[in-house]
Amino acid sequence: MPVNNTHRVPTTPLNIPPRLLLGPGPSDAHPRVLRALSMPQLSHLDPAFVAIMNEIQELLRYTWQSEHELTISISGTGSAAMETAVANTVIPGARVLIGVMGFFGERLVEMAGRYGADVRVMEKAWGDVFTLDDIRAGLEKHQPTVLMLVHAETSTGALQPLEGVGELCRQFDCLLLTDCVTSLGAAPLLVEEWGIDVAYSCSQKGLGCPPGASPLTFGPRAMAMRQERPGKLPNWYYDLTLLQPYWGGERRAYHHTMSSNMNYALREGLLLIAEEGLEARWQRHQQNAQLFWDGLAEMGLECHVANPAHRIPSLTTVRVPEGVDAAAVARRLLNEYNIEIAGGFGKLAGQVWRVGLMGFNSRPENVMTLLAALQRLLRG
Ligand SMILES: Cc1ncc(COP(=O)(O)O)c(C=O)c1O
Repeated sequence: MPVNNTHRVPTTPLNIPPRLLLGPGPSDAHPRVLRALSMPQLSHLDPAFVAIMNEIQELLRYTWQSEHELTISISGTGSAAMETAVANTVIPGARVLIGVMGFFGERLVEMAGRYGADVRVMEKAWGDVFTLDDIRAGLEKHQPTVLMLVHAETSTGALQPLEGVGELCRQFDCLLLTDCVTSLGAAPLLVEEWGIDVAYSCSQKGLGCPPGASPLTFGPRAMAMRQERPGKLPNWYYDLTLLQPYWGGERRAYHHTMSSNMNYALREGLLLIAEEGLEARWQRHQQNAQLFWDGLAEMGLECHVANPAHRIPSLTTVRVPEGVDAAAVARRLLNEYNIEIAGGFGKLAGQVWRVGLMGFNSRPENVMTLLAALQRLLRG
């Protein structure tokens, strides 16, 4: 039988350039995580893998500071965990209030709308955050079943304070859902104490893993609402009533063939956090962020988020000086120094650079390397 060889192009072995990933994610994985990733596969129902799943759930509860029974990893990137969270909390026709202060709030609006929510929006300028009074006013006005907020808005660099929000949501009998894709493992986050019902994240930022196994914690109030949802969820893959028996109980029921290797990586990333301790980890991110902010100030550069208390410790938006071509600087950093940073997008396109110091990459030597390269490029 004749075989078409047109696409049988000659290739060379993989040759990955040695990048330093200081953009908004992915960030470089810890060497121990890469080692875990390369261990032999296990089948998704092997008792040895089930034991690993159980360890992941416990380590995730520590990292989230969550007591929620349903605390798991979702196969896919942060958007997969986001879709799971949204799909399982939206009841078609029910009112959902979303705080939009950047691109990822807009993505929540898009997703909640697709699942049939009656979406209401409260907005802030890109770089600002909501106050408790703003949130109370929104809840009073819209009386939603779910409030959705982005904890760390990666498009603007702003960190939304969450203390007190869960209590407000209980007063208004609504769920609190938070996007923690850029905050988990990097910024203080206390799911239980702050009354967060549903939160999701990713593996490739604060956890120092490759993308692909994304944490989700889903509390009992949210599960009670999920059970009330009439009919079948239109999304089979992310239906938590099907995923729950896969992650819990004596006898695990097959749902999908989970990647053992991605979950080894996640387990190692979470183990590194447990070894370091959450307080020490949050402090390390804050200290390296401060080192970076001080260096920027010395160079006459400004952060887009004026109030340091509202800046994400793992992701800084730097204002691009007048007359500087933001994309050209980022390109030269990559081509000449192997350092990746990102530009702004949406309403901040061309106005900011986005610099990530996340997980394993939040280290003083990375801060000094980037500052030195940036200074040289900006001098012309
Ligand atoms: C705040 C936020 N939410 C959601 C996402 C989507 O995650 P992913 O790109 O891993 O699907 C991102 C990605 O950067 C993000 O920063």
